[in-house]
Amino acid sequence: MATTVTITGAGGQIGYALLFRIAAGDLLGNDKPVRLRLLEIPEGMKAAEGAAMELQDCAFPLLEHVEVSDDPAVAFDGCEHALLVGARPRGPGMERADLLAANGGIFAPQGRAIAGHAASGVRITVVGNPANTNALIAAAAADGLPAERFSALTRLDENRARGLLADALHVPVGSVHRLPIWGNHSATQYPDISHATVGGRRALDILRERFDDVRHWLDQTFIPRVAQRGAEIISVRGSSSVASAASATLDHVRDWTTGTRDWTSAAVVSRGEYGVPEGLVCSFPVRAVDGRWEVIEGLELSSWARARIDASVAELVAEREAVRSLGFA
Ligand code: NAD
Ligand code: LMR
Repeated sequence: MATTVTITGAGGQIGYALLFRIAAGDLLGNDKPVRLRLLEIPEGMKAAEGAAMELQDCAFPLLEHVEVSDDPAVAFDGCEHALLVGARPRGPGMERADLLAANGGIFAPQGRAIAGHAASGVRITVVGNPANTNALIAAAAADGLPAERFSALTRLDENRARGLLADALHVPVGSVHRLPIWGNHSATQYPDISHATVGGRRALDILRERFDDVRHWLDQTFIPRVAQRGAEIISVRGSSSVASAASATLDHVRDWTTGTRDWTSAAVVSRGEYGVPEGLVCSFPVRAVDGRWEVIEGLELSSWARARIDASVAELVAEREAVRSLGFA
């Protein structure tokens, strides 16, 4: 029996990078047939239809069916994984409130359509920015669906952090573990190196051998570089991250579904862990067990780490207030 996966914004850049990997088995496994539903707005339909034609031309053995629609009720019908990628980017002259209002107009109806039409066990991953607050809006609109079925992507930030640390220490990225992201998928995020290990050793011990002042390196180099990596990619490539965002989305959904042995990062609906206000969609260190994200609890946080997390959480609170004042969430 094929699994139905719905991708919104499927005619866009990340959609194009995601579709072929999903059809090749990179999301569900190389023995799991998949049915793809591509949701676009009318302006994006041609691009999505073209991608659907190319999918057919790849003759992927696992791909059972592709359907393109601009109707959320059709696109989310029976879906087991919803990847919400399509979002309204900030345009010239747009204020933050305009962006939140535009995205409220996308993610609230999509949340309702998912609640009304998706499979009962659906899991929803939000990629479109501002990802945390878009997930909050969709979850609030999805009457009857447990909030824990929604999460937003911060795995790209974690992958970036692991890659940048590996580069700084001249080690393979596969040797870097436990480097979770806290807070918002934004410049306020906190990549937390305090529990990280490199080749089985504490990363902080290795960093102390390399740098005279590790705190200064974290504050001035590592954390800003991770948090601003999206902007750095935009300035170098001329457009925002695409293949790395798609790859992190696959990592996120695959781990959520199949489980993790170790920690990773995901923005999940807070139940008050670490004092984060209930209901905010906040990134935490998590593991996936039996198809659910579990926040890793009981970690000690220095006052320096706490201040960074608090600043990112304050930004999420402000975003929630802004969308509430617009009637969403
Ligand atoms: P893009 O502009 O190439 O594609 C977006 C697509 O979404 C377009 O084809 C557009 O027609 C479609 N769309 C807009 N509104 C829609 C709606 N209501 N329903 C269905 N489709 C809709 O953008 P992209 O490069 O693919 O990026 C998509 C989003 O992902 C952006 O918001 C971007 O900022 C975000 N992003 C997030 C992360 C992350 O780590 N969370 C990383 C990279 C990019
Ligand atoms: C990213 O992190 O690459 C995306 O969120 C795009 C951006 O605007 O930074």
